[in-house]
Amino acid sequence: PLVGELFGLTELAERLQRVLGIAKVIVVQGDADHSPWVKQELGRVGARVLKQYVREGDIVAVTGGTSIASVAQHLTPSPAFKGVQFVPARGGLGERVELQANTLASAMAAKTGGTYRLLHVPDRLHPEALQSLLREPQIKEVLALLKHTRIVLHGIGDALTMARRRSYSEAELRELEQAGAVSEAFGYYFNEAGETVHRMPTIGLQLEDVKKAEAVLSIAGGKSKAKAILSFSKQSCQNVLITDEGAARAILSE
Ligand code: G3H
Repeated sequence: PLVGELFGLTELAERLQRVLGIAKVIVVQGDADHSPWVKQELGRVGARVLKQYVREGDIVAVTGGTSIASVAQHLTPSPAFKGVQFVPARGGLGERVELQANTLASAMAAKTGGTYRLLHVPDRLHPEALQSLLREPQIKEVLALLKHTRIVLHGIGDALTMARRRSYSEAELRELEQAGAVSEAFGYYFNEAGETVHRMPTIGLQLEDVKKAEAVLSIAGGKSKAKAILSFSKQSCQNVLITDEGAARAILSE
């Protein structure tokens, strides 16, 4: 039965590669919506893949979230991370501190022996305050680094789940829903066609930077993320998707 299951996962991955147009898809067993160990497995595989892709002196932009937190947990020291800088992809998005990109960038540096930078941008800033932060030398420096991102390591969320987690009001949630938002990544919300329908007021990595990066590694599992994964794949920028059986089977039956 084990061989059969392994074969099943490989076949699922190959089918997803074709359907989503992503060069490499890895599918782990189970469904992260139901079992916490599946998220652990996503993180373990994510850590392995990152180690394979990383090169000396790289800038690795990382997002927040539980999936990327799991990658951070599974990273280990390696010469592969020599001179690597972990940089948070976006400023404050309203996440709990343990799940913020800043926290995960510093955790990854501590685990691997790399270094990190922080983007000190509070959540829910007024546009004028954001504009003045953009003139701060410290922030400018980090934004300049992000322009040279070679690897992006990010999570993908279901739009409304993420908006609720970030304490959007009922009215804001309704607006997002009416705009057809189904996925969220980097503080951008996308519809089914992959068009941006909303952006969170923060600064950091832009979608153009993501598209220019050499390696975009996405970690997202759970059946509840099927539509979100499908929507984000429309960006046609991912090199590797690490997902689970729950999401994979749901995407293929869409
Ligand atoms: O941007 C997407 C979210 O960070 C995904 O969060 O990994 O906790 O589901 P999650």
